[in-house]
Amino acid sequence: MNEFRSTTQIVRAARATLPPHAWDYIVGGAETETTLRRNRIAIERLAFCARVLRDVEHIDTSTTILGTKLRMPYILAPVGSLQDIHPGGSASQVRGACAFGTLPVVSSVTQPSIEESGAAASGDKWFQLYVRGDIDWVAEVVGRARAAGFRALVITVDVAHYSNRERQRRHDWVADGRKAPGGPEFQARLNWETLDQIRAVAGMPVIVKGIQTAADAQIALDRGIDAVWVSNHGGRQLDHARATIDILPEVVSAIGHRIPVIVDGGFMRGTDIIKAIALGADAVAGGKMHAWALGAGGEPALARMLELLRIEVETAMALIGVTSIGELDATYVARDDNRAGSITPFPLLDEPDETQP
Ligand SMILES: Cc1cc2nc3c(=O)[nH]c(=O)nc-3n(C[C@H](O)[C@H](O)[C@H](O)COP(=O)(O)O)c2cc1C
Repeated sequence: MNEFRSTTQIVRAARATLPPHAWDYIVGGAETETTLRRNRIAIERLAFCARVLRDVEHIDTSTTILGTKLRMPYILAPVGSLQDIHPGGSASQVRGACAFGTLPVVSSVTQPSIEESGAAASGDKWFQLYVRGDIDWVAEVVGRARAAGFRALVITVDVAHYSNRERQRRHDWVADGRKAPGGPEFQARLNWETLDQIRAVAGMPVIVKGIQTAADAQIALDRGIDAVWVSNHGGRQLDHARATIDILPEVVSAIGHRIPVIVDGGFMRGTDIIKAIALGADAVAGGKMHAWALGAGGEPALARMLELLRIEVETAMALIGVTSIGELDATYVARDDNRAGSITPFPLLDEPDETQP
């Protein structure tokens, strides 16, 4: 494969390669897709306050989260049904992420099995769970994840009911996540007491994914959760939710650096990642980006996507005048309501490109 020159080329290749149902599965949001758009609008509305005349010859993009060293503060969010996007499924996600030097979070509704995904690479990895059974069922699944080498458990809490995604409904195809055995009633019943029970059987750090208010972040902290993950499921669940980057400062302030804060939702450029870190996130996660990369060309395309993103992170750091992730704080960003004209992170997606591999 010729090397992709930009992440735009990767997304374009995914669109050309994937069957329409898989493309729509990746890009679709709930109902009017307002949450999906809002995530991007809010990121775009932030502008940098760049500092100059600082020596930025050597830049270190690395960081650490829950004891795992990352080459950049960007991890791979759980994506279900990855095997329908690329035959290697979550094993390719794990290999690509670990080879690059970041964390894969493996969905509980993707293939291959927990054991095969865990064995795909020796680096650190986390396991995401949709709670679809009683506590004995949870203990059994989590025990398998632990034995397979997963180091933390991510419980997704923003899918109490399945959302209406019309883009997906146009196809005669249903994602594994919506047809997996076990009743959706367990997801609907999930509450803080269930999370206490899960923590008691987890045997590893527990992270709550889907926090959308400072109030819930505070409860998670008080109940001993190990990290909170600010997410609106990439705009795929509740429509008309707030943009995650708008929620982030409130959550960061409630948590007060006592546990890590992760954020996702529309972060697709190095500058997007740096904005979130400046506002207090410890790491940023992405879903669509690695789904597109796997769809565009499997593990080599995923490795390339991560390297292109890392170069963007490094460039953004140099141009705002910082050399390490720890230097970033809220003084580097300001809200700017002058819309820059587009909510797409890939403005050249539909333009001719004679270098497209
Ligand atoms: C195709 C697809 C499948 C997803 N499957 C899951 C899943 O199985 N479990 C989960 O917790 N989140 C899932 N998510 C949500 C992501 O983990 C993440 O929250 C979201 O994609 C972040 O937004 P972004 O795609 O704009 O980066 C999925 C997202 C996508 C795009």
